[in-house]
Amino acid sequence: VVLTISGKGGNKSSPLLYGVMFEEMDHSGDGGIHGQLLQNNGFQGNSLGMTAYAPIGSVNISQDTSKPVSDAITSSLRVSVSSNATEYVGFANTGYNGVPVRNATYNSSFWMSGTYSGTINLQLIGSHSGIVYADHNLTVESTESNFTQFKTTFNSSASPDGDNEWHLTFDGEKVAGSALNFGYIELFPPTYHERENGLREDLATVFEKVKFNFLRFPGGNNIEGLEIDSRWKWNRTIGPVVDRPGRESDWFYPNTDALGLDEYLWWCEDMQMTPLLAMWAGKSYGGIVSGSDLQPFVDDILNELEYLLGNSSTHFGALRVKNGRKDPWKIPYVEIGNEDDLTGGCDTYPDRFSQIYTAIHDAYPNITLVASNGDYSCLPSPVPEGVIIDLHLYRQPDDFVALFNQFDNQPRNQSIMVGEYGCRNTSNAKGTYWSYIQGSCSEAIYMMGMERNSDIVQMAAYAPLLEHFGFVSWSPTLYGFNSSSGSITPSTSYFVQKMFASNKGDTVIPINSSTEFGPLYWAATKSDSQYYVKLANYGPEEQNVTVSISETKSGRLEMLSGSRLQGNTPYEVDVETVSTKIEGKEGNYSVSMGPWAIAVLAVA
Ligand code: AHR
Repeated sequence: VVLTISGKGGNKSSPLLYGVMFEEMDHSGDGGIHGQLLQNNGFQGNSLGMTAYAPIGSVNISQDTSKPVSDAITSSLRVSVSSNATEYVGFANTGYNGVPVRNATYNSSFWMSGTYSGTINLQLIGSHSGIVYADHNLTVESTESNFTQFKTTFNSSASPDGDNEWHLTFDGEKVAGSALNFGYIELFPPTYHERENGLREDLATVFEKVKFNFLRFPGGNNIEGLEIDSRWKWNRTIGPVVDRPGRESDWFYPNTDALGLDEYLWWCEDMQMTPLLAMWAGKSYGGIVSGSDLQPFVDDILNELEYLLGNSSTHFGALRVKNGRKDPWKIPYVEIGNEDDLTGGCDTYPDRFSQIYTAIHDAYPNITLVASNGDYSCLPSPVPEGVIIDLHLYRQPDDFVALFNQFDNQPRNQSIMVGEYGCRNTSNAKGTYWSYIQGSCSEAIYMMGMERNSDIVQMAAYAPLLEHFGFVSWSPTLYGFNSSSGSITPSTSYFVQKMFASNKGDTVIPINSSTEFGPLYWAATKSDSQYYVKLANYGPEEQNVTVSISETKSGRLEMLSGSRLQGNTPYEVDVETVSTKIEGKEGNYSVSMGPWAIAVLAVA
């Protein structure tokens, strides 16, 4: 196949094209990219009971609702010590199926009430091996009348696995026959950019390498709520974590909301991603609010925007400053709802959208608004100028390839976001369907279709981002992990996203080819004299390609290839991008595309 790349003409390509959708799901946030490692640390939600706690020594432990830590954290852990205790006693927290332990500095904190003056011992210890990786004492003075927070820092050596626990013990003899209460316990490994209440550095660093342009958050279904009242509420996710009550999520476990509104925006800012913030728009799984009943929720959206964008003379802007963010955040994009074409929202969405659109647009005309779906029967007619419509596509490989041309003949005046996409076995939606080469190749082909049309396809978010392999309700995700620090597993799709997001010019350029598309697909962009040619071979036969780009000399060839069903598993990353130098012969580059291979040729 001969591809002749033109240096002239072409369309502007969207600078925001490649992004990702993140929501709390599969413990992607709690126990995932958010740094805090202890599970059920504030007894939030109503489904966990004593999950992750165990007694140490001659004590009984129980959830105590009579001793709340704060108005938001309505329970604490009561540790009742037997009257003949003489040893150190206390409790363990087993994290999210174990605590990853690295050779690193840890921050830990806990709230405590009850009369105690003396030593608290913290340990990181192998659950079955009993090997102590960290052993740290601090001295506390605790009283019966109120909860006091104690914070400390210690070093740990590395555990070979994730089968570890955090232990808190105290001198049992001093409390024999009595009890102490502990609450809102926290353990942080190093965090990304050393942020307090920040992201887990190792998981965030893998994310950062993709170089996504934008982050769509906080959902997804998880903003919607199984009931109206359990929707994601912005004002419960801000300020001190001990004042965040958490919620029962859409994904069947309580969210701590420690990864809250400001934390999402620090994440975006630290990684130079544009935030795309979704707002609740009246639809939950438990019902729909519309018409005048929606107005209080519209007011709440304006309050949220005042919190994010207002200066310190405004009520909510001042609250943001108090919470540690002086300057207003940048919020260029706001999405109104999630998937209102599905789960019963279609008939009321045009009115709900218009009500919210008008309120936001009048107050913040510079914010670009995104409608939650692309079904014109579920959208106002006409769609207001400047509004982006959001399509979601989870498909099997052949279906994605068939959609390569999806955007070729769309009207050029309607901007589109593909707010969620990923290759998935939709006939077995709850089953595990981990990424593999053929599926990732099909995503690459679909992405080339978007890139070729990125004058109208402004943004495209792979979804979802991350899963803890021990808590999967949706798979695949871009990468996964289990409780061990060494388990982080980039999927084959991770490498496709990384190749595509890191190699895109500002202009889509025309290509002359010696054949039609299929099984080989291609797309090209350039910025100044730097060219990026993307290739994918959706078939079992090798394809020999000559790419001709006059006035270029050399560069790099990045290639992802493997057998059709090959994928990466924890501790075995078999398939990853291989980068080699490539020289052109008078601007001609020979590229051998193996079966199912995906490649980027970056030359100048
Ligand atoms: O990404 C998983 C889910 O898929 C999202 O929460 C929802 O928007 C979509 O249906």
